[in-house]
Amino acid sequence: MAEQKCKSNIRKAGRAMGNKKRIGMLTSGGDCQALNAAMRGVVKGIETFYSDNLEIIGFEEGYKGLIYGKYQKLVPSDFSGILTKGGTILGSSRQPFKKMRVPDANGLDKVEAMKTTYHQLKLDCLVILGGNGTHKTAHMLFEEGLNIITLPKTIDNDLWATEMTFGFQSAVNIATNAIDCIHTTATSHGRVFIVELMGHKVGWVTLHAGIAGGADIILIPEIPYDINKVIKALKKREKQGKRFSILAVAEGAISKEDALLSKKERKAKIKTRKYPTISYELAEQIQKATGKEVRVTVPGHTQRGGSPCAYDRVLASRLGAEAARLIQQEKYGRMVSVKGNEIVSVPLLEVAGKLKYVSLDDAIIMQAKTLGISFGD
Ligand code: F6P
Repeated sequence: MAEQKCKSNIRKAGRAMGNKKRIGMLTSGGDCQALNAAMRGVVKGIETFYSDNLEIIGFEEGYKGLIYGKYQKLVPSDFSGILTKGGTILGSSRQPFKKMRVPDANGLDKVEAMKTTYHQLKLDCLVILGGNGTHKTAHMLFEEGLNIITLPKTIDNDLWATEMTFGFQSAVNIATNAIDCIHTTATSHGRVFIVELMGHKVGWVTLHAGIAGGADIILIPEIPYDINKVIKALKKREKQGKRFSILAVAEGAISKEDALLSKKERKAKIKTRKYPTISYELAEQIQKATGKEVRVTVPGHTQRGGSPCAYDRVLASRLGAEAARLIQQEKYGRMVSVKGNEIVSVPLLEVAGKLKYVSLDDAIIMQAKTLGISFGD
């Protein structure tokens, strides 16, 4: 009863402001779990504030839909039953920020096109769910005068100004499960296994899944490895009578010598590399040095798939609710974020263009080393 009264007061507050809200929404960049849960959270939140004074425009395939005016008119019930559903009901695509100011094949000015769509649809606000690249464009659109609210999505957990992104914990669960499955077969055959995990330029997924899955060696981009140290760690395990070893290797892991190369030199080296990824190069080096059989497993995009875990459902719902509050307060140009146990919001200016790397000073690194995990450094 008290709850109902509270809800009706909130609604009255919305109506008292004479507000009919028309909200645009898009999901951009690589997908992840809990995108649907987050959108559902936003819609449920604004519905609480504005009741039936609400119109939702869902843009198809991220910024592409905003540029080319491809959208659907949605109603709150379209967001029912999607809490547990992976992927995104709006579709997504990668539209690199650096190409946003470059006209398309037909000479269309993409930034102007996005602004035109926004104004023609008379949107009050655009809610954008995305990761790093997405936030650079979101900030630019805010600077161009659009009302923008964003939510932090990515399995990589590399967004600045939030301690956690939704998608990350689900990906860590999947990656951990992959390591768990490898454990049993590695034990049977006495092999060395490399499990290569996603994360782009950062090592969050690998670090967490590596610890959770009991990996013996964890290699992440933030801590360049020395192959001799990796081999030493493997030989030490063998001496201890261990029949197998597991390496959790981030797709962006890098050797100490490659870390000394310039970005250009590194790119050129990767182009001519005979191995599809860093793990295959490591596998050959390890096999040569130890004589052990080495196998590589790459779970790849499975890490972005399937249902969101319970943690991500809660996080995405909380972030969605906070985004709705910002819309009600007309506090635009902000990303909802996690600080400690709180859901807060930060200006887009603070977020755009900055990556959140694993820091060597993070206690988790010291604790992992205390557990005997080698980082090959
Ligand atoms: O940013 C999420 C992510 O899954 C990264 O971990 C990975 O490097 C990249 O996207 C893969 O991108 P795509 O789906 O375009 O192959």
